[in-house]
Amino acid sequence: MFMLWHVTHHNVRAARTVKLARYLSDLGYGTKRELERMLVNRQITLADGTVLTNSAQDAPPHELLRVMGVPLDPPPGAVILLHKPAGMVCSTEDSNPLVYDLLPSRFRSRSPIMSPVGRLDRDTTGLLLVTDDGQLLHRLTSPKSHLPKRYVAQLAEPLRETAVAEFASGTLMLSGEHAPLAPATLDVIGPRLASVAITEGRYHQVRRMFAAVGNHVQSLHRDAFGPLTLDGVPEGEWRVLSAQERDALEQALQAARLTRASPRAP
Ligand code: URA
Repeated sequence: MFMLWHVTHHNVRAARTVKLARYLSDLGYGTKRELERMLVNRQITLADGTVLTNSAQDAPPHELLRVMGVPLDPPPGAVILLHKPAGMVCSTEDSNPLVYDLLPSRFRSRSPIMSPVGRLDRDTTGLLLVTDDGQLLHRLTSPKSHLPKRYVAQLAEPLRETAVAEFASGTLMLSGEHAPLAPATLDVIGPRLASVAITEGRYHQVRRMFAAVGNHVQSLHRDAFGPLTLDGVPEGEWRVLSAQERDALEQALQAARLTRASPRAP
């Protein structure tokens, strides 16, 4: 009998068995009925060619399974790093193209669904994480997560001299809001080009921050999410995070919490 281990980060939660049809159905490979048909048609095998026919058998280890000879999509709990192009929206339905259009269509039928970690605006490009690890998703998007995210902004106007201090002040207000923004690090790259690292995730935050200092963002690109960057991932493409990257993300999450929880210097 195959045992499935539900592995979360650093943590083997429980051993459980899942039936083959259910396992593949939860990964978006079809309804149970469709999977029954695929089993009858000998389309589900192991890596060594063994044909599987019984939908009620325990699911073999993920890496051994093949559907029509092809290894499976990333296993449950995976994190995808996607390089989002402009013009695509981070939602499951819209009249615009969706970031899901860049991923296997099965990702939207997975249970749990593969969800973007937070949102980038339609015209923002750059690093977007996508995961079906609900716990990680929650921790990354919680207001208590102060993980830095870095953006490069092309601006309509030259930056005013006070902008760096205003962003760092911890007193900058967004129009229509009542709580000041946490300090943010602004690095001036050129007269109309800057990079900014923020630790919050308010609605249209970066565009509204530049508006608050009398400027206008013409284009916006996220190039880092905590320790992760887009290195080697061309626009429109994606890859699965490695175990090392998961570790680095976890450490950064914990460090960000600690930094924020520690008492302020007198
Ligand atoms: N801030 C914005 O204004 N837009 C984004 O897409 C992300 C952060």
